[in-house]
Amino acid sequence: MQVTFGTPSPEASGVIAHVVNQGETPAGLEGALVEGAAASRFTGKPGQVFEGFATRDGVTVRVALAGAGESDADSRRANLEKAGAALAAKYLRSGVKAMSLDLSGAGLSAEDAAAVLLGLRLRSWRHDVYRTKLADEKKATLESVTVTASPKGTEKAWEIQAAIAEGSEFTRTLVAEPANKVYPVSFVHLCEKAFSGTGAELTVLDEDQMEELGMGALLGVGQGSRQPSRLLAIRWNGGGDEAPTVFVGKGVTFDTGGISLKPGAGMEDMKWDMGGAGAVAGGMLALVKRKAKANVVGVVGLVENMPDGNAQRPGDVVTSMSGQTIEVINTDAEGRLVLCDALHWAQEQYKPKRIIDFATLTGAMIIALGHEHGGLFANDDDLANDLLQAGKDSGDALWRMPIGPAYDKLIDSPIADIKNVGPRGAGSITAAQFLHRFIKNGTHWAHCDIAGMVWADKPGATWDKGATGFGARLIERFVANTLER
Ligand code: BES
Ligand code: MN
Ligand code: ZN
Repeated sequence: MQVTFGTPSPEASGVIAHVVNQGETPAGLEGALVEGAAASRFTGKPGQVFEGFATRDGVTVRVALAGAGESDADSRRANLEKAGAALAAKYLRSGVKAMSLDLSGAGLSAEDAAAVLLGLRLRSWRHDVYRTKLADEKKATLESVTVTASPKGTEKAWEIQAAIAEGSEFTRTLVAEPANKVYPVSFVHLCEKAFSGTGAELTVLDEDQMEELGMGALLGVGQGSRQPSRLLAIRWNGGGDEAPTVFVGKGVTFDTGGISLKPGAGMEDMKWDMGGAGAVAGGMLALVKRKAKANVVGVVGLVENMPDGNAQRPGDVVTSMSGQTIEVINTDAEGRLVLCDALHWAQEQYKPKRIIDFATLTGAMIIALGHEHGGLFANDDDLANDLLQAGKDSGDALWRMPIGPAYDKLIDSPIADIKNVGPRGAGSITAAQFLHRFIKNGTHWAHCDIAGMVWADKPGATWDKGATGFGARLIERFVANTLER
């Protein structure tokens, strides 16, 4: 969906939209509209939309009022995104092709106005590329939104939000694509395309190079697949000579469980087991597109976990790049095996100030937090608090979980240095402890288990059902809050 500023051609104005605060009578709107809205119990609650008609300059026009909640609400920005998203949801498939949007009311600042546009843009994203027989009335029609009036500075504020939208959309596309389209090599290609000409520097390691480096844990996961594994690093140097912040993502492009095969029901969901890598790639794209003043690197470990004659077996012992040996008790606990080599390599390569990983790591995380928060684990309180704040600001919410030596003990192995699963209890925490063993002393580290967040079974604030884009906005906001001030 295209957002432009200016005057739409008259035939293009399918609907004219205004944003309305809760409990305020909007100034300048026709009395009939205001009365109609009140009669249909429109109060301006966030996400409410009223549609009516008015005569303007002698022609009858369709007018939509979008509720933005109370003007002094703590969640003002989120409410404004919801107002935009509600307009998108209502008109996306309505037959209307173009919307005019008047953002001059409701006491909006330029940033507020840009939040409405971000909601509109994110909620109108779809992935219909494989739907060749979509009925006409189900096809999206809304193509463009023209902002006809807005506070000073809105265009500039929108440039930043548009970069964020691009990043989120990239994450969603990577997550939504099936595993026969997005596999390690094609993930890299999609990134090469997305980042080409941006000034970001991409490094790709193939299997021979990873073998050379001793990444036995990551390679062990991929060895049952016909698809060769890859490690991809995306570097953006926008912030002088400070040590970089590194984001690491789990990119299991399909997780069958391997020889510890998953049950059939719902296995198709495991196409989005690269959601951590998708979040990192999309977060980096947002930062690069808005030319962030920060040194950041995104590293993603890309593998496909398949059962095969050459697949690794339960009980195998592999040697990670760090030198630590790992007993593979369960080949379905593969994400940590991929991440431990990616984390170690990233620390060696970049000597980062802090390292933050994103992974759809455990089903237990969904049992603990459902689909409302990602789980956050950290060895540093300041880093944890910065991430929690970025989560609140961006809408990609996190909730902190504990780590500690008593949990760490649970993954000692009788034959190797460490085993890849603990007992039944605290499955998300022992997974985090596993990763922690690969963090060098003194490096600030956080781990976000986003298993419950990357895919939605029902529409949410700014997404339809399907890929949510979770993580991209979190990364972008964390960098804005913590590194760019
Ligand atoms: N990718 C899964 C975790 C997952 C499950 C994400 C469901 C989203 C939805 C991960 O690789 C996995 O299989 N984890 C196992 C770990 C267990 C074997 C210790 C799990 O959670 O069951
Ligand atoms: Mn698994
Ligand atoms: Zn997995």
